Amino acid sequence: MILATGANGMLGSYFPDDAVLKTDLPEMDVTDLECVREMLHRHRPTHVLHLAAWTDVDGAESNVEACYRTNVIGTLHVASVAKEIGAVLTYISTTQVFSGDKEGPYTEFDAVDPVNTYGASKAEGERIVREICDRHYIFRAGWMLGGGLKDHKFVGKMFDLMKTRDHLMAVDDKIGSPTYAKELAAGILSHIKTGLFGTYHMVNGGGVCSRHAMALEIARVLGRSDVVIDPVSSDRFPLPARRGANESASNYKLDLMRRNPMSSWKEALADYVRGELIASRR
Ligand SMILES: NC(=O)c1ccc[n+]([C@@H]2O[C@H](COP(=O)([O-])OP(=O)(O)OC[C@H]3O[C@@H](n4cnc5c(N)ncnc54)[C@H](OP(=O)(O)O)[C@@H]3O)[C@@H](O)[C@H]2O)c1
Repeated sequence: MILATGANGMLGSYFPDDAVLKTDLPEMDVTDLECVREMLHRHRPTHVLHLAAWTDVDGAESNVEACYRTNVIGTLHVASVAKEIGAVLTYISTTQVFSGDKEGPYTEFDAVDPVNTYGASKAEGERIVREICDRHYIFRAGWMLGGGLKDHKFVGKMFDLMKTRDHLMAVDDKIGSPTYAKELAAGILSHIKTGLFGTYHMVNGGGVCSRHAMALEIARVLGRSDVVIDPVSSDRFPLPARRGANESASNYKLDLMRRNPMSSWKEALADYVRGELIASRR
C-alpha cells in the first residue's frame, strides 16, 4: 500500500484515491515525529510518497525556519520512519536545486547549487533521503501545471486575465520546463513499480520555454489570436526569491532507459487548459 503525505496539495490531487492512502495536515504533520511514527506504524505502507512541503518559494525567503522545518526536518522524520518500517520512499524535488547558470537543460548528472531558500531546503531533503533510505526514488519537477479551479499560478492567472484583457505582458528572459502534475503523478506511479531506484527528472519535453512562450500557447489554445502579449524582462516583476535564468531540465535518465512517460509541454498545456481550466473555470 502507498501512503502519501501532503496529499491535499496540487500534485496529491492527481493520485487516484484507490491507489494511494492520502494524508495531510492536520492529522499528519511531518514536522511532528510522533505523529509521523504513529501514522506510518498504524498503516504500515510498503511505500511512502512524500509530497508534503513548504512550496511558497518567495515566502520562504522571509520564513527560512518554517521552510526548513517542513522541507528538511519533515523529510528527516518521514525518511527515518519509512526506514523503520521497511518502506520504499519517494520524494518530489525541483529543478530549483540548480543554480540556473548552465547553458542548456540540466540532467540528473549535474551538481546541485541552489540560489534560494526553497531550493536549498529541497536539495537538503534530497540529501537526507539518499542518506537514510537505500530504497528511494527522487523525482525532480519543473514549473508545475495543475490545480484547475484552485490554480493561482502562472497558467491559471493568464487564463483568467485573457477573459477580460487583450494586451498582456510575460517574462521572456527566464526559461524552464513545464511539468503537468497529472502526467507526473501517472509517471511516478508507473516508475515506482520498476525497482529502478534513484534520482530522475520528470518534466514535459518539446524543448524549453519561457513564461512568454507559455502565455502565447495559452492564447493559441483559447483561439485568442487577438491577444497581444509583450515579452518583458523579469526586472519588471521583482520577486523576493532569486531564480536562475535557466530552470530547464531534460529527463535524461528516463530517455536513456526508454521509459520517459512525459508528453511535450505544448500538448500538456493544451490538455490542461482544455480539460481542466475551461471545464472548471468558465
Ligand atoms: N508546485 C510546484 O511548482 C512544484 C515544483 C517542483 C516540485 N514541487 C514539489 O512537489 C511536491 C508537491 O507539491 P505541490 O505542488 O502539490 O504543493 P502544495 O500544493 O503546496 O501541496 C503541499 C501539501 O503539503 C501540505 N503540508 C505543508 N506542510 C505540511 C506539514 N508540516 N505536514 C504535512 N503536510 C504539510 C500542504 O498543506 P497546506 O496547504 O495546508 O499548507 C499541502 O497540502 C512538493 O514536494 C514540492 O516541493 C512542486
